[in-house]
Amino acid sequence: METIKENFKDIAEWLKSNLDDERYRHTLGVASCAEELALKYGVDSEKAYLAGLLHDCAKCFSKEVSKSYFDKIDILEEEKINYKTWHAPIGAFLAKTQFGVNDEEILSAIRWHTLGKINMTLFEKIIFLADKIETETRDCEWCKCNRELLEQENGLNKTLINCYKATLKSLCDRNLKICKLTVDIYNNLLDEV
Ligand SMILES: [Fe+2]
Ligand SMILES: [Fe+2]
Repeated sequence: METIKENFKDIAEWLKSNLDDERYRHTLGVASCAEELALKYGVDSEKAYLAGLLHDCAKCFSKEVSKSYFDKIDILEEEKINYKTWHAPIGAFLAKTQFGVNDEEILSAIRWHTLGKINMTLFEKIIFLADKIETETRDCEWCKCNRELLEQENGLNKTLINCYKATLKSLCDRNLKICKLTVDIYNNLLDEV
């Protein structure tokens, strides 16, 4: 189990009470992986740790509770199709209103960690990727292959493309709808490598 930073102990306590065990382990894994990637790419590692810690804070809310936030958050019409994506805008809202985070970079990284967005900043890419390749709960082989990709030239974008490919394949395999935005982001990333 990853260690929790001293100044974020209260947040971790809240998360432990409001997430299931697997989601809590994943959360600590993302925080730790985000910190590691931040150090690798020269961005603020404490901010990255905090964004990782809070990214899934609303993940275990029921559909009814999640819906009650709709009039308070900015949510795309196409996001409303899939309940699994609602926790991202709700999480950003809670990070600000409940946990007092005012840093726009952190809030935006939480807001867009599920879908991603066109022209993500380095910080947003790091949180997006940490969510996919943390080693606490993600598949070992999957993490290993992505970590190898990361070491290549333009590795961050190549790894992001690999993650989008996996998402697109999985959505097709399960006969689920694909957001236009997801396809646009994938195409845009291909232009970046
Ligand atoms: Fe999430
Ligand atoms: Fe996550």
